[in-house]
Amino acid sequence: MTRPIPVLTIDGPSGSGKGTISRAVAQRLGWHYLDSGAIYRAVGLAAAWEGLDLSDGESIATCAARTEIRFITDGEGEPHVIVNGKDATRSLRTESAGAAASAIAAHPPVRAALVDLQLRFRAKPGLVADGRDMGTVIFPDAPYKVFLTASAAERAKRRYKQLKDKGVSVNLDSLLHEIAARDERDAGRAVAPLKPASDAVILDSTGVPITEVIERVLAVLPASLQPR
Ligand code: DC
Repeated sequence: MTRPIPVLTIDGPSGSGKGTISRAVAQRLGWHYLDSGAIYRAVGLAAAWEGLDLSDGESIATCAARTEIRFITDGEGEPHVIVNGKDATRSLRTESAGAAASAIAAHPPVRAALVDLQLRFRAKPGLVADGRDMGTVIFPDAPYKVFLTASAAERAKRRYKQLKDKGVSVNLDSLLHEIAARDERDAGRAVAPLKPASDAVILDSTGVPITEVIERVLAVLPASLQPR
C-alpha cells in the first residue's frame, strides 16, 4: 500500500502570522506550500479587474474557474503570484484585496470552484497548507493540523508593522477595526467558516517570538518527519 502524502494544515485568522510561519515551516521541512488566501485574493482581484459585482456568487465562481493563478519564486527566492499573466504580488497584499477576498470567499460556488486547484498542491514529499478551512474542508484527512491564533490587538500591530515595512501607509485603529470585521465575516459565514478542526492543535502566538512559534508548529510532527 502506498502511504498518503503528508499534509500539515495551518489555519487561523488574518494576521496570526500564519503566512510567515507556514512558509518557514515548509522551508524547514522541504515541503510544498499552499497559500490558499492568495488564491481567494487573486480571484477577488481578477473579479475587480473585470468589473464584476463581488456579491454575485455565480459570476465570481465563473471568474474563479477561468482565472489563471501561478505561484513562482524569483531569482532572489522571493515568492510572486501571477494572475492572468500579470505579477499581482503587491496588489494582493493590500487590505482592500484582503477584504475583497473575504467577501467573495463567503459564496459557496466560489469555494467549490477552487477546491481542485487547492488539492493539486498535495505533492511529494509533503504539503504545508495555510488558510481558514485547510484542516476542516480541503484536507480533512491531514494527519497534522494546527490552528494558529493571537489576540486581535497583536494581529493588528503585526499587520501594521508588515505594511509599514512595505511602505504602505496605514492607520492602526482602522486596521484593528478591519481585522475584527474580517474575523467576524470569516467566522460567521455559513460555508467553511473559520474554526479549528476538532483534531487541530491550538497555538496562541500572542507575545511569542516567531522562531518559537515555528518550533511549536514543528513539534506537532512526529520525530520521523522532524527536519534535521
Ligand atoms: O489568509 P489571507 O488573509 O490571505 O486570506 C484572505 C481572505 O481569503 C480571508 O479573509 C478569507 C479568505 N480565505 C478563505 O475564505 N479560505 C481560505 N482557505 C483562505 C482565505
